Amino acid sequence: MKTYYLTCAIDYPNGEPHLGHAFEKIGADCIARFKRLQGYNVYFSTGVDENSLNVARTAREAGRDPRDFVNEFSPRFHNLWQHLDVSADVFIRTTEERHTLASAEIFRRAHANGDIYKGKYEGWYCLSCENYYPDTDLNEGMCPVHSTKPEWFSEENYFFALSSYQDRLLEHFEQNPGFVQPEFRRNEVLNFIKEGLKDFSVSRAGTDWGIPVPIDESQVIYVWFDALINYATVAGFPDDAERFAKWWPADAHVIGKDILRFHAIYWPAMLMAAEVELPKSVVGHGWIDLEGKAMSKTTGTAVDPFEVTAKYGVDPLRYYLLREVPFFRDGSFVWDNLDARYHRELGNDLGNLLNRTVSMIGRYRDGVLPAAGPNSEPETVLQAAIVEAWEKVASGFDAWNFSEALSDLWQLVAAANRYVDATQPFKLAGDLEQAGRVDTILYNLAESLRHIALLLAPAAPTTADRIMEQIGAGSVEAGAWEAGREWGGLVAEGPVPGGDPLFPRIE
Ligand code: MSP
Repeated sequence: MKTYYLTCAIDYPNGEPHLGHAFEKIGADCIARFKRLQGYNVYFSTGVDENSLNVARTAREAGRDPRDFVNEFSPRFHNLWQHLDVSADVFIRTTEERHTLASAEIFRRAHANGDIYKGKYEGWYCLSCENYYPDTDLNEGMCPVHSTKPEWFSEENYFFALSSYQDRLLEHFEQNPGFVQPEFRRNEVLNFIKEGLKDFSVSRAGTDWGIPVPIDESQVIYVWFDALINYATVAGFPDDAERFAKWWPADAHVIGKDILRFHAIYWPAMLMAAEVELPKSVVGHGWIDLEGKAMSKTTGTAVDPFEVTAKYGVDPLRYYLLREVPFFRDGSFVWDNLDARYHRELGNDLGNLLNRTVSMIGRYRDGVLPAAGPNSEPETVLQAAIVEAWEKVASGFDAWNFSEALSDLWQLVAAANRYVDATQPFKLAGDLEQAGRVDTILYNLAESLRHIALLLAPAAPTTADRIMEQIGAGSVEAGAWEAGREWGGLVAEGPVPGGDPLFPRIE
């Protein structure tokens, strides 16, 4: 079976997870589910980045022991992913023993290769980014990402010889044009490399929070050098060679635009130094804010995903985020837009289509699916829309363009609604001479809903299953993509149980 290994960023557990974190996990989950549906054996990872200075600092400011603190906050991320149906196969915490071993091993290999040396560093350090910034990168002295004042760090520590990888990195970018997606991000990274890479420090002195440097226990490994390695750890590096061979190299690392350089420059260079194959791609998504304001806990503009799902449900949130904000772009979470999409697209367009279909089959055919007779013009039009939707939705997902995939899927939902308007089965139902025609219409509607459910499954898995259940088609199974697109999957004479409306009105 073909495999697909997909990773997400591991979040800093220094507070509650917010909708920005969820945007990434839901997008990645959509791909994980799409690939499973296509028959891939998928391994999907995420977790938490516990060893960072910013976590230790937040804990201490709250008068807490960092270990105690992460034990409280890390499970909140894990719970949220379960709540949002993010189908990750593994959730790693970087304080786990297996990760300590993997990080130490990469460090050792890079050192043995001559790529790690001792030196002195001074500069401005942003704790939220866990990154040094040269003066020229600051905005009026502030961090370019967080707009907060960086701290002056002056340390003797270990350095990684990133500069000596410049040519090899450029060569890799040239030979693998899809290594960084989307292309405009690839160009940004490429320009950055061409400007000249500087070595970066890979250890921190004066703290005991983190993974000890294997060759010098007085220091801990710099959090980025440690965090990136999580992708290898969960695939079995270094001890489980068989598992590592099965999953590595990763097919896609999904991360936000702010941490692209770490993934597209540091990480491949680290792997080159450790003589490990490079991942196939790094996918950088955009950021969401709250109605134009950066999502931040301090200013009260961080949206709690649980608050959203309590009102609208999990799938509507997933659907809304995927549909509203193209994955590679920046966008806003807007409560009114969520409400509008919920009522219009989910409730009216899709929910009513299902509701009308199952209630007509209930009323006119005692809840048993009739067999279809020959096609007339409206069936030909509808079935052509289905063929088109399979093509377009698949290419939207393949391009990580969930927004386009879903809007193409809604073209099919609209076509099915137009089909009801054109054929008016409710007007023919009382006329015995039209019984065959009504059978055909009802079958075509139910079968269209089966196609819609399969195409919707990566984005809104529970809704897809509920549609399948209501039309008597069971549930969406892994590997269903190829056979599922054929016309006629629904077996006539089977029960169509129907059920409650999917998206009741919310006042
Ligand atoms: N711990 C590092 C990642 C290490 S990966 C080896 C980190 N953590 S984070 O908690 O700050 O961010 C985690 C992910 O969430 C990142 O990919 C980041 O881009 C993403 N997002 C954080 N806020 C976001 C939005 N407001 N919108 C979209 N994604 C956001 O960076």
